[in-house]
Formats: sequence, structure tokens, C-alpha cells
Amino acid sequence: MKSELNLQQTMLRAAGLLSLFVVVSVGLLIGVNAFTKPKIAEAERLALLQTINQVMPAERYNNSLIEDSIEVEAPEFLGANQTRIYRARLDNQPAGLVIETIAPNGYSGNIYLLVGVLADGTVAGVRVLSHRETPGLGDKIELRKDNWILSFNGKNLTTDNARRWAVKRDRGEFDQFTGATITPRAIVGAVRNTLEYVNQQGAQLYD
Ligand SMILES: Cc1cc2nc3c(=O)[nH]c(=O)nc-3n(C[C@H](O)[C@H](O)[C@H](O)COP(=O)(O)O)c2cc1C
Repeated sequence: MKSELNLQQTMLRAAGLLSLFVVVSVGLLIGVNAFTKPKIAEAERLALLQTINQVMPAERYNNSLIEDSIEVEAPEFLGANQTRIYRARLDNQPAGLVIETIAPNGYSGNIYLLVGVLADGTVAGVRVLSHRETPGLGDKIELRKDNWILSFNGKNLTTDNARRWAVKRDRGEFDQFTGATITPRAIVGAVRNTLEYVNQQGAQLYD
């Protein structure tokens, strides 16, 4: 009888300890999450700002691009249902746009891009935010691997030059990579579509 009571007490104590352990662990997890979430968000914000600065020179504007941004819906041009456009202004005058856009037809799916377009319609810069293209083949779209992504700088899209917005294999002016045409073709198409959208929308993107 006494040993049964002892066993019950031991089991109860073990269950109590286990519950306490679970409560403490969950509490710790919630605490760590609450602590790291804002830090991760801040790191992401800084990374975005850094990339924005690469496609829109800082001396071109004096507003806060992050605060002066809009959501737009133009999936046929920008590759996603909703995309964000950051507006650059110098002394309140339109200076340029930084556009989040997607090349949906990479070798391994979506390639996420930031395209900087000056107010006169020329490209200030293009950078890849993320992609899953093959290392050694499609990843030359990253600036740390190759200068190819800089070949958009200073280009614009007009009715006269529209046919040249393609890779050389498709009789355009942009280099493809050896043995990897799909990735650069996807990016050239996405940047061209982005410029077409900007040309069509005109000044209202700054309103
Ligand atoms: C395993 C594997 C991975 C590949 N990865 C890519 C890639 O990331 N980007 C790309 O454009 N082509 C990639 N290719 C090559 C494409 O299948 C295709 O052959 C090529 O893009 C066509 O370019 P080309 O006409 O210059 O050969 C890959 C092929 C294989 C077998």
C-alpha cells in the first residue's frame, strides 16, 4: 500500500517536472522569438536598403524611399500580383523608381529582382535579390560572380530599340552565358517588361 503511494507520488512529481519543463521551454522559445524577430526584420530592412542603394545612387534623391513606396498590381509586367515600387525624389521632384520585379521563367523558377529606373526612363541599376539558378551556370547574374548584371546600366526602352532587348542568341544585344541562355533570357525579359510598364504608366507612378 505504502509503495503504491510512493509510486503515485513519484509519477506525480515526474509529471509536474515535465509540465514545468514544457512551460519553461515554450516560454523561452516565445521569448527568443520576440527578441530576434525585430532584429531579423531590421536586418532584412538594411539588406533591402543596401540593394536599393546599388540600383539608385544615393546622391540622386533626398527622401525616404522605404516610406515613399506603393503597392502596385501589374502581374503581366512585373511578374507578381502585388509588387512594391519605391519612389526617389530630389527636393520633391521625381528622380527615379526602384521596382521589385520577378522574372518567372528562370531555369529554376522565379528570379527576384530590383530594377532602378531614373526619371528619364534609363536604367540606373539592376540587382538580383534571390534566385535558385544553378551554381556555375545561371548564377553569373549575381554581381559577386560576374559583371553581367551591369550591362543594363544606362539602357532605355524605346520603340526603335525594343527588338534589341534580348540575348544575342535571340538577335538582341545582351550576352548569354556559355551553356546557359535560359537565365539571362529571363532577366532581360523581366527588365524589358519593367521598363515597358514604367514607360506606359509615366509620371502617375510618382503620384
Ligand atoms: C543540371 C543542369 C542545370 C542547368 N542550369 C541552368 C541554369 O541555371 N541556367 C541556364 O540558363 N541553363 C541551365 N542549364 C542549361 C539549360 O538546360 C539549357 O541547355 C541552356 O540554358 C540553353 O543554353 P544554350 O542554348 O546556350 O546551351 C542547366 C542544365 C543542366 C543539365
